[in-house]
Amino acid sequence: MTRLPMLIVLVSFATAAPSSATVPIAAADPSAPPKTLPPAPEHDLVARVCTGCHVPELVTARRHTSEEWDDIIAKMVDHGARADDAEQDQILAYLARFYGKPTGQ
Ligand code: HEC
Repeated sequence: MTRLPMLIVLVSFATAAPSSATVPIAAADPSAPPKTLPPAPEHDLVARVCTGCHVPELVTARRHTSEEWDDIIAKMVDHGARADDAEQDQILAYLARFYGKPTGQ
């Protein structure tokens, strides 16, 4: 029974910090998207078009499928994002490359 005191310490720690305990797990997730926009030929375009209204963290927070990014870009253009069709294609390619996820996940 020498291990019991340690077990009690672990259990009380887990009960004391239920929400903050999930943060390190999320940060260590290898599928977590990059927090800042990675360098690429399209970087400056994405940074210019997609950070005009909100912080880049809104863009980098979550992975999406190409279809979802396509919808989001179209919605942002409706909001007033200024990018022509060719630029929207480049933004989609960039987001799908660095912030994509396989369809159906
Ligand atoms: C003209 C202003 C504007 C620009 C420019 C803009 N956004 Fe947004 N964005 C918004 C607003 C307003 C919201 C919150 C309302 C909503 O979700 O529609 C938002 C929310 C978001 C969200 C979170 C909501 C969701 O639907 O997932 C993402 C992701 C996003 N924007 C990505 C982008 C990307 C990528 C670009 C560049 C193509 C961009 N934004 C450019 C106005 C803008």
